[in-house]
Amino acid sequence: MSVKIAPSILSADFARLGEDVRVVEAAGAEILHVDVMDGHYVPNLTIGPPVVAALRKVTNMIVDTHLMMTNPDDFIEAFRDAGADMISVHVEAVAHLHRTLDAIRKLGARPGVAINPGTSLSTLDEILPHTDFILIMTVNPGFGGQKFIQTCLSKIARLRAMITERNLDVHIEVDGGIGMSNIRTLVEHGAEWIVAGSAVFGAPDPGAAVKALRARGEGVEA
Ligand code: DX5
Ligand code: ZN
Repeated sequence: MSVKIAPSILSADFARLGEDVRVVEAAGAEILHVDVMDGHYVPNLTIGPPVVAALRKVTNMIVDTHLMMTNPDDFIEAFRDAGADMISVHVEAVAHLHRTLDAIRKLGARPGVAINPGTSLSTLDEILPHTDFILIMTVNPGFGGQKFIQTCLSKIARLRAMITERNLDVHIEVDGGIGMSNIRTLVEHGAEWIVAGSAVFGAPDPGAAVKALRARGEGVEA
């Protein structure tokens, strides 16, 4: 399974976002994770489509918009128009999940379903064949720099088993509290796309942090 590193710009310096993004791209990060928070679904307010459009102009990375919003359907088109390649919505926030994923796919983006630490994998049972990826939250969404919730490890393994058993082509992304101490274990449990905010942009050298995370995630470091 190939590991992709997805730096989260939530922990970047918003006054020099373009430079921060170039640094992680040059270091080989494949995915740019953009945390969209609406102040309702989560107790924080971040960024919207204009920032995604600005980022799109300065990067060739896959732009991954994680919509932590109560009404994501109202904004899917705007994020896609702004240049989002991946759009994830929360299973807890969407009334007609199949319809929403279908709308994302029809716009030409990859649909994903995000799931909170307290939400059971059983909520994904019917939707699994209709999504490109599952975003397993390993902290409660809303803020960067929180502590990884250990019970999420077995959840990743159980989701991997569900996907394998049903022979589906669904990727597993993980998000929250991930760094050098746990990335390898996460990959061993079945995670492929690794979101890291503070572990990348909170490091003295974000480019070196991306490289170190990848090496440890792939288990190839010396
Ligand atoms: C949390 C966000 C995460 C966050 C991760 O609500 O979805 O993407 O930026 O930050 P770290 O890696 O610092 O936990
Ligand atoms: Zn996120």
